[in-house]
Amino acid sequence: MKILFIGDIYGKAGRLALHKYLPLIKEKYEVDFVILNAENTTHGRGLNIKNYAEIKNAGVDFITLGNHAFDNNEVCTLLKNKSDIIRPLNLKDVYDGDGSKVVKIKGMDVRISNVVGRVHVNMKGLTTLNPFDTLEDIVDFSKEKIHIVDIHAEATGEKKSFAKYFDGRVSAVIGTHTHVQTADNQVFKNGLAYISDVGYCGAYDSVLGVNNGAAILFSKDQDFKSNTPEEKGDLEFSAVYIDIDEETGKSNSIKRIYITPNKPEIELIN
Ligand SMILES: [Fe+2]
Ligand SMILES: [Fe+2]
Repeated sequence: MKILFIGDIYGKAGRLALHKYLPLIKEKYEVDFVILNAENTTHGRGLNIKNYAEIKNAGVDFITLGNHAFDNNEVCTLLKNKSDIIRPLNLKDVYDGDGSKVVKIKGMDVRISNVVGRVHVNMKGLTTLNPFDTLEDIVDFSKEKIHIVDIHAEATGEKKSFAKYFDGRVSAVIGTHTHVQTADNQVFKNGLAYISDVGYCGAYDSVLGVNNGAAILFSKDQDFKSNTPEEKGDLEFSAVYIDIDEETGKSNSIKRIYITPNKPEIELIN
């Protein structure tokens, strides 16, 4: 089973990158299912109903979120009514929607889960539970052979520890949130496909999707009001392509896709 997992879509430029590159990737490679992290899709903050429709129309099958999950209130309508979107599982209080769902891919039940890390992640007032214990409760009772997990977290050590803990029990643990693709994609010895961070989709000449001037004000002067997405210029697109054995639920390979103006070819990177 071939899964394409696309990193955080950041604002209008991210949506443009998705519409530009996803059809080309599907044309070039066999893709059974597309998962995308949409926490920054609407102007960098959450996901509204209009942009949900836009990314679905681009060919996305399933959506995960992160610390920006609830930045736009319209997401609650989506979480309540749509079967193809999840928010972080390990939230202390009760929120709309679910953090783990089962979907059909090639006639098989496949589980997709989303957790957030606890190290240096600004949850904007939300209290998070231990992601290890919370996911383990799901893993213990779930019957699905294939399980893909988005760990939305800042610290590579936390993400890799989490993945090592579930090696042999989960098919893939994909890191999101930092908006910088790491080159550590690998399959662990018990068949778990891992990358510390898949990266993001948005403006290439930006700071993680944010306009350069605004990001400098934010970091240099702690001016938190000016956090504006960069909407112009060249695009960056980041994803991973995972091949999972349908008999065993273990991964055969995880390859990176990283498209920038300096490297415009669509290729799978080992
Ligand atoms: Fe993000
Ligand atoms: Fe995030």
